[in-house]
Amino acid sequence: MADVNPPLDGRPIDGSVHAASAWAELEDLSEGPSPSLRDLFAGDPARDDRLGVECADLWVGLSRQHLTYEVLGHLHVLARQRRVTDTLTGVLLGEAVNGSEDRAAVHGALRARDRSPSGPGVEEAFATFDRMAELAESIRSGKATGATGQRITALVQLGIGGSHLGPALVTDALRHLAHPDVTIRFSAGIDADDLDEALHGLDPASTLVVACSKSFTTIETLTALDGALAWLTIGVGDRAMDHVLAVTAAPDRARDHGIGDDRILEIPLAVGGRFSVGSAVGLPVMVAIGPDAFDELLAGMRVVDSLSAGLPVEENAAVLLALVDVWNHGHLGRGSVAVVPYAHRLRLFTPWLQQLSMESLGKRVCQNGSDPETPTGAVIWGATGTDAQHAFFQLLHQGTDVVPVDFIGVARPAVDDDRSRKGAEVLMTNLAAQADALAFGRTADEVRADGVDENLVAHRTFPGDRPSTAILLPELTPSTLGQLMALYENRTVATAALLGINPFDQWGVELGKQMALDLAEGTAPASELLRRARSLREG
Ligand code: F6P
Repeated sequence: MADVNPPLDGRPIDGSVHAASAWAELEDLSEGPSPSLRDLFAGDPARDDRLGVECADLWVGLSRQHLTYEVLGHLHVLARQRRVTDTLTGVLLGEAVNGSEDRAAVHGALRARDRSPSGPGVEEAFATFDRMAELAESIRSGKATGATGQRITALVQLGIGGSHLGPALVTDALRHLAHPDVTIRFSAGIDADDLDEALHGLDPASTLVVACSKSFTTIETLTALDGALAWLTIGVGDRAMDHVLAVTAAPDRARDHGIGDDRILEIPLAVGGRFSVGSAVGLPVMVAIGPDAFDELLAGMRVVDSLSAGLPVEENAAVLLALVDVWNHGHLGRGSVAVVPYAHRLRLFTPWLQQLSMESLGKRVCQNGSDPETPTGAVIWGATGTDAQHAFFQLLHQGTDVVPVDFIGVARPAVDDDRSRKGAEVLMTNLAAQADALAFGRTADEVRADGVDENLVAHRTFPGDRPSTAILLPELTPSTLGQLMALYENRTVATAALLGINPFDQWGVELGKQMALDLAEGTAPASELLRRARSLREG
């Protein structure tokens, strides 16, 4: 049987993955006996090399996954049968891959370094980049002033979800490259404490507030905007609006809030919130690290986008990662992935990835409305190593659930001094040790051979055979961070393409939002829970 479906209409295949013949082969293999990771390594000394793949400056190691070469072969066929790289090409070109919203996805097209426009709103977005760069340069050079003539020295971005997590991650991760005289903060919440913390110690006269909301209807962001305006008004009176910018795909709604056209940076409707850091949503990043470094971030993303769309599946890191995710969840029943970056600067990586992955893959219907007939998105969680080792690794090593781990390591520290180099080495040895301990464990006989008291042998035994992936960056730069983020984006899109689901919609968050609105407006009766909370507040 041919292992490649004929091209259809450029859209992802949207029925259940069960339709692919490779799925049935994999199902059979997953039900049969499978060698342990110890056996796989013992029988194949070159396994690390054979299951390692380069992706631009990144290296991805899959040797500690439960993959035999037979399984891998069928996974490759599955990727071809599901035409996964066609979908990634569609995203690269800004095509209409978002079926349920009848929209393109243009985040990839925005990263075209030659600015060749493809996809709706992309040309306009390139012009917006120029406005952003001008603004960023004027803030960084000290030329930008507020209503009272004071220099702008702080930018506070109000936004939630995709309007927060990407820019917050990048700004935090590249803090070592940030302009020393410009403070960047974020506030993502309705909770007044959140905004208070973001504004703490800042002077309204020297602060720019960016209301970042693709829809400009998000209650969290609009509430924060009201709070920020009140704070600005105390500082600069009726010129408060001079200190506000809007980033949105709904300029009319921003105008309704009194924000003038010259203070609105428009993003295309077809850029998904969780994929939007490379649009005007990334303004704080550009202000922090400068337009050139922002460009390097996008260039890094673009390189990985091109590799993800263009490489054969056997050498394609994003597709291989997606295949492993589908194998682990769909066939081996592992419903969560712990993501552990061994770098303090990547501490916001997991929260960013949680939205990217779970909002994209948390679906229970295919693009065409049919049942995917297999588990879809895994639960993503995690924290930085080594903190995670002292928090949840006990469960990973000896708990009853098998949780695949993504280890992310950075070889060179951002600061080139002895202390940082030593720290980077200790982090890497911990990463390597944890990956091996999970994979190979420690048998009862090995424990006994160490002279451990028989009463404690069971306690000191590690089952091992616990899978992990390693992703290594040479160092953390705008380019490599862009590469890492794009790799995970493309892995997410590729997983969706394999499963036939739409990674670009998020209908699942609408119901709760609407119900909260109904309760707030009194059009729905208060539940007992809400009555109790209100009475507690009133005392
Ligand atoms: O959480 C739901 C969501 O719609 C996300 O997809 C989005 O990133 C976030 O809310 C914020 O939306 P907006 O940018 O429109 O305020």
